[in-house]
Amino acid sequence: MKRKIFVTGAAGFLGSHLAESLLAAGHDVRGCDNLIGGYRDNVPEGCAFTQADCGDLKAMQELTKGMEVVYHCAAFPYEGLSVFSPSIVNYSIYQATSSVLSAFVHNGGRRFVFLSSMARYGSNETPFTEDMAPRPQDPYALSKVAAEDLVRLMAGIHGLEPVIAVPHNIIGPRQKYDDPFRNVAAIFVNRMLQGKQPIIYGDGSQKRCFSFVRDCIDPLVKMLDAPHVVGEVINIGPDEEFVTILELARLIADHLGFKLEPIYLPDRPQEVKEANCSSDKARRLLGYRTSHTLKQGLDEMIEWIRRRGAKPFDYYLDIEIVNKMTPRSWTERLM
Ligand SMILES: NC(=O)c1ccc[n+]([C@@H]2O[C@H](COP(=O)([O-])OP(=O)(O)OC[C@H]3O[C@@H](n4cnc5c(N)ncnc54)[C@H](O)[C@@H]3O)[C@@H](O)[C@H]2O)c1
Repeated sequence: MKRKIFVTGAAGFLGSHLAESLLAAGHDVRGCDNLIGGYRDNVPEGCAFTQADCGDLKAMQELTKGMEVVYHCAAFPYEGLSVFSPSIVNYSIYQATSSVLSAFVHNGGRRFVFLSSMARYGSNETPFTEDMAPRPQDPYALSKVAAEDLVRLMAGIHGLEPVIAVPHNIIGPRQKYDDPFRNVAAIFVNRMLQGKQPIIYGDGSQKRCFSFVRDCIDPLVKMLDAPHVVGEVINIGPDEEFVTILELARLIADHLGFKLEPIYLPDRPQEVKEANCSSDKARRLLGYRTSHTLKQGLDEMIEWIRRRGAKPFDYYLDIEIVNKMTPRSWTERLM
């Protein structure tokens, strides 16, 4: 059935891919983005786009009129930076979610799909499963958990259908790659294309599991209507092919034929050493399957960045707290 859907963060990485797939499935898609992160040309053709900030309640009341479903993707997804810029990160997650939610409820909307983050699991044992109590370790994660609670609370009171999607470490074309604060794989590619060595915090033994963006979109699209996902928290992404950050740098260097000699900086505070999620629930409820290997995903992303061209890094967000723990790569703009 054709639905009217509002996607926040539609110029962003995930939001733009999601909007594109929803349009391809025949839905009416409206999108907004404040264009501080993301790229304007990510917004797919056919998406009715407005430049607006999700914290702007009046704008959200206008934009959610007649909308049946919201995918709330907009956020400043800065886990590491949130330790030094909690104010801007909390605003973009908790405050902005409050406004979108308030407007959507007011306009009689039905289903609210909230994009949370694996950061919610924090110091739990890996692999992270959805039944674990969140143990956030930084302001970004805390804000995501608080926003999830708000979504559930308001849904209970006003009869919304909440769904909490938990993506992790997504890579692929359209990801912001000139952002010095996040997206490690894209940063490595951008630096190597400029002939610069990747900067690694700590010894590079932090382990992650990367998700290719198109593998994440199908389960997200299914969250639109599926009755059995209402009220659920669902991890989205693979649970195979773990790599260390150093191995990730090697894979990218191999693709680019780059001689790898990383620059090592001290660990970032609060960085979780090993972070990976179980995908069992997504497989069971949404038929999730991984169809791209890490190498295939990286190849597509690298070629997309190469086509667009390497770019200087843009330090467009203020660092609120500068002290001896603030990474030098940010304070001295080493990227
Ligand atoms: N990409 C990942 O690996 C990943 C992992 C876990 C969670 N997530 C979550 O998924 C969502 C999408 O992430 P992404 O990787 O596409 O990030 P992204 O930065 O590419 O997209 C987010 C978009 O939101 C916009 N935005 C930020 N604050 C806004 C506001 N107040 N009003 C309007 N627009 C605003 C930005 O301009 C950007 O275009 C985020 O909520 C993020 O926390 C992403």
